[in-house]
Amino acid sequence: MPSSRSAAVSEKLFARAQAVLPGGVSSPVRAFKHVGGAPVFVSKGSGARIVDEDQHEYLDFCLGWGPLILGHAHPQVVDAVCKAARDGLTFGTCHRHEAQLAERVLEAFPAHQMVRFVVSGTEAVMTAVRLARAATRRPLLLKFSGCYHGHVDALMVKAGSGVVTQGLAESEGVTPTVAHDTVVIELGDPAALEAAFKTYGTQIAAVILEPLPANNGLLQQKVEWLRSLREITQKHGALLIFDEVITGFRFGFHGYGKVVEITPDLTTLGKVVGGGLPVGAVVGSKALLEKLAPMGGVYQAGTMAGNPVALAAGLATLEILRTGAPYQALEKLGQAFDAAVAKLPKGPRWRRVGSLVWPYFDPAGEIPTTAEAISKTAIEKFRAPYRGWLEQGVYFPPSAYEVGFFSAAHQPKDVERLAEVLAGG
Ligand SMILES: Cc1ncc(COP(=O)(O)O)c(C=O)c1O
Repeated sequence: MPSSRSAAVSEKLFARAQAVLPGGVSSPVRAFKHVGGAPVFVSKGSGARIVDEDQHEYLDFCLGWGPLILGHAHPQVVDAVCKAARDGLTFGTCHRHEAQLAERVLEAFPAHQMVRFVVSGTEAVMTAVRLARAATRRPLLLKFSGCYHGHVDALMVKAGSGVVTQGLAESEGVTPTVAHDTVVIELGDPAALEAAFKTYGTQIAAVILEPLPANNGLLQQKVEWLRSLREITQKHGALLIFDEVITGFRFGFHGYGKVVEITPDLTTLGKVVGGGLPVGAVVGSKALLEKLAPMGGVYQAGTMAGNPVALAAGLATLEILRTGAPYQALEKLGQAFDAAVAKLPKGPRWRRVGSLVWPYFDPAGEIPTTAEAISKTAIEKFRAPYRGWLEQGVYFPPSAYEVGFFSAAHQPKDVERLAEVLAGG
């Protein structure tokens, strides 16, 4: 579609960035390779809206890829950050926010007893994996194709088609030896799960998954299958790790584990727990977490881990979330969205779970629940109209594989607009 408006500043900034940053970005999906054209360069955000460098305003459904459950620049969160910053940006020593935020996290995850703060979701997963290997004294991980766990070497692997495979590296620079320590199977396949444990059962340290896979579409799984993971790991002495970097605090003041009534051995958090600043966390039993240095022999450390400004943002966010009010607002948005979709004559089909939405543009077949079942048609049909959505003032994550996020700052009319625009209305 020929564009009627200028993106001159974003284009200029992108050209400048490409000269000094690989692909012009600090993280690949931001480069808009999937949808084409220069990325939108954002100058500011407030509530549910962002403004780009060319002064175009958008309703934002990407929201920093999930952390901003309260919307952009929530005044209480910004105040907490400013106050903490004025008191000092980092100390590299102990401070009061660490135990405060840990107590809040444990209030939401009462089956766990301790928290280690890190700086990103990737780091949380790395730490959980190391803990699991140390606790079980076993080498292998079992993961599922379609689940993303950050750019951890051992988890950058892909599946063979439906059979049990030991991983093939999906990224250059990951050695075959490392990839070989990861067994990959399809989501939701009981036979593959049985086969994996039959073949490798005594070697599997942990099964790791997003209990609601939300990085490769929104691949909601059957609760019975999730329960079977808990049973089979217990039977074989492996740990179960729920990677809740996206889902933690998304559906209530708890994790998705509570939604499906399953308690994993370890939970990894990121995104919302930092309220928009870099915080990740590993949460688990005292027995497991005390295996970490300085109590135990599993080394993990970080100059910026538990940074006081970042933890202040997380703490302010969780204080608001624990009132329950944001979740009531999100529930209303979900209802408004469903009602709007029901009235639309055509357009994508959707999977919505709470405040996560995934449009699926292939009219044929079921909406997939495995990565393998996502069709090329769905991907192509997402790509073509994307820039038109931007022109209509809707910023959706720039990839057909990504989910959109609602925040408590959105109004029902905003999510109705999302449905209309993506449906071509
Ligand atoms: C489920 C899951 N795990 C881990 C990560 C990695 O987190 P980060 O990007 O903070 O390193 C992500 C990031 O999107 C994620 O969605």
